Amino acid sequence: MADELLRYRPQFPILARTTYLISNSLGAMPQGVYEAMKGYADIWATRGIRAWEERWWMLAAQVGDEIGALLNAPASSVSTHQNVTTCQAVVASCFDFSGKRNKVVYSDLNFPSVMYFWEAQQAYGARVNMVKTDDGITVPLDRLLDAIDEQTLLVPVSHVIFRSSYIQDARAIIEKAHEVGAHVVLDTFQSLGTVPVDVQALDVDFACGGVLKWLCGGPGVAYLYVRPDLGKKLQPKFTGWFAHQNPFGFEVGPTRYSEPPFRFMNGTSHIPALEAARPGLKIIAEVGIERIREKSKRQTSRLIELAASHEWQVNSPRNPKDRGGTVSIDMPGAQAVCGELLKRDILVDYRPKAGVRMSPHFYSKDEELETAIAAVEEILKERSVSAK
Ligand SMILES: Cc1ncc(COP(=O)(O)O)c(C=O)c1O
Repeated sequence: MADELLRYRPQFPILARTTYLISNSLGAMPQGVYEAMKGYADIWATRGIRAWEERWWMLAAQVGDEIGALLNAPASSVSTHQNVTTCQAVVASCFDFSGKRNKVVYSDLNFPSVMYFWEAQQAYGARVNMVKTDDGITVPLDRLLDAIDEQTLLVPVSHVIFRSSYIQDARAIIEKAHEVGAHVVLDTFQSLGTVPVDVQALDVDFACGGVLKWLCGGPGVAYLYVRPDLGKKLQPKFTGWFAHQNPFGFEVGPTRYSEPPFRFMNGTSHIPALEAARPGLKIIAEVGIERIREKSKRQTSRLIELAASHEWQVNSPRNPKDRGGTVSIDMPGAQAVCGELLKRDILVDYRPKAGVRMSPHFYSKDEELETAIAAVEEILKERSVSAK
């Protein structure tokens, strides 16, 4: 059967030159980004300071809504930031860690940047409870749920684990957190754009992620969803003039907070990155996450099947329902193999305790999976010959 999604390939120049299997790290750049960047330069060059009023000021909220549509978030509930670590800092700054309810629970398979941030919050009274993985692939759900108790304030967890692509049971985690009065910060960086996410159906408190991987939006834009009832009352201490009710009043004294999404922003927004993000978001919305997910399950299953015919270690769940868009495959000398693949224009990455991560996206051809696995075989053969 013809793969209908391949018709999007001409919109991504790099696909003509490489085998692109790295959307877990950096999605392919849409052709439309050239025009978006030219538009950015043109408005700056011709409209000068008026660009703020005419376009730039509202862009942060507009792009937030475009991302929000993919999350099924209500309008104005998504603010934009530079990266996920900043989003988590904004959330942390809404809470007080000096009381009895000061526990922060997460898994050691969270993305390290975020863990470094939470570790550092111990200086302000946060008590970190990190639940350890047994197999390096999955998070033990029972132990995670047990750790969430009446003293838990926040549960910042990845929806899909970056190393293994394991999908956590977000619903169970959110239900347990709500039962005991804790809040969940769901990091959807490795899910949104390849695995369906519905923040309203999940009733999650906060969700954050970035656009540079599965959303083909480039570096520099992250998003923070805040559930509207919380959005009305929380007061981030990491704040700034964009969050003020009257930013151009330049008032002195405490912030009078505006409504979301600006309430959760702080300083001047990152206009070039916001402009660059839009073509990718538009394409993802048009393709639709359900179709992307169906294809992804099929192609990642195929990759696992191809890898299984070798004695390589697959560090991703075998069952497609537990797996996001990536397959992590470990083989002898995996880091060097990754370097060789890059030289051959097969774009993948290597992560310790994961191996080579391969991530087909809606624009990938089935043949490209065979190409990548055949290249690994060849590289390993060449390396074993040269080692003799
Ligand atoms: C699950 C997850 N969270 C966060 C990040 C990155 O965080 P930041 O945007 O702060 O660099 C990544 C990968 O880059 C990730 O895979």
